[in-house]
Amino acid sequence: MATHNLLLLPGDGIGPEIMTEVKKVISWFNARGGDTFESDEGLVGGAAYDAHGQAISEEDMAKAMASDAVIFGAVGGPKWDDVAYEHRPEAGLLRLRKDMELFANLRPAICYPALADASSLKKDIIEGLDILIVRELTGGVYFGEPKEITDLGNGQKRGVDTQVYDTYEIERIAKVAFELARTRNNKVTSMEKRNVMKSGVLWNEVVTDTHNNGYEDVQLEHMLADAGGMQLVRWPKQFDVIVTDNLFGDMLSDVAAMLTGSLGMLPSASLGAPDAKTGRRKAMYEPVHGSAPDISGTGAANPIAMIASFGMALRYSFELVEAADMLDKAIANTLDKGLRTKDIAAAGEATISTAEMGDAIVAELDALSA
Ligand code: IPM
Ligand code: MG
Repeated sequence: MATHNLLLLPGDGIGPEIMTEVKKVISWFNARGGDTFESDEGLVGGAAYDAHGQAISEEDMAKAMASDAVIFGAVGGPKWDDVAYEHRPEAGLLRLRKDMELFANLRPAICYPALADASSLKKDIIEGLDILIVRELTGGVYFGEPKEITDLGNGQKRGVDTQVYDTYEIERIAKVAFELARTRNNKVTSMEKRNVMKSGVLWNEVVTDTHNNGYEDVQLEHMLADAGGMQLVRWPKQFDVIVTDNLFGDMLSDVAAMLTGSLGMLPSASLGAPDAKTGRRKAMYEPVHGSAPDISGTGAANPIAMIASFGMALRYSFELVEAADMLDKAIANTLDKGLRTKDIAAAGEATISTAEMGDAIVAELDALSA
């Protein structure tokens, strides 16, 4: 039986509230026997800025690098609107992604049967939906240089961001997409804007070359990212795995999240390359939603995306497939019983609090293991 070291970074807004619910789930697995989890905790985002004057301290960064997995809540809020750009809460998240080299961001969008009515789309369009967005996470316009605002001296300023991709960055994310497709419905849709962007032309070329070199068994199609966005809301079930760059992936995954009924339902995993010596991948797990400062402290936050993110850690970092399946089942059963936080409740439906949802999922785990 192994012991896994987790670093919990609750962050800001609803982050600490939903992390409290994950801790209940972690304690449940620790009490059950089998692999156990030791958790340390750190600060990130505005919380870290308030304590240390930077969005993540060197000490917590070192802990993240040494951990088996980071479990991340959410960052940001109006309180830090005026903080210098390099110290803004999001800088902590971006530094974790970059320094840990978490280039592969897996964002599944699954429509739980019980929530098919909560989507803004018609039920038959999203019922049974199960797609996976594989977003490149350490390159592109998020990190490309130059990235600056310069004064042109004539009363004008110029803002510049740089979209840049090298072959190896596209190749490694394409491989992740093809390999994951093989465990699913064996289809990859690659999205870029090759009609206007050179990085899109290269993206398309490299994905095609990678496909021709060992992944011919997987079905590959290419789509322009704008058309892809349109197809996502028109007929999302045509997709299995979507592979795309950092910025398009950011946008398309929010669209995909909303298909499922609520942003509060969507977990994600961010993975690095396997270590040459140990085979271990650095990893971070976080909900796709943000810190929701408007509802923070009200008990209205939905902890499901956060709990399901821990489920992804069980699956992808620790290969505890039975435990991961069980946790997913506990979430589905809780929803089947009609338990709803505010974000997923239909008009007039009764709602429960963040803590009650966490407790209900733990009770379902008890029932499933009885
Ligand atoms: C996400 C978020 C982040 C991103 C923000 C908070 C920097 O929107 O994880 O999707 O843009 O990547
Ligand atoms: Mg986003």
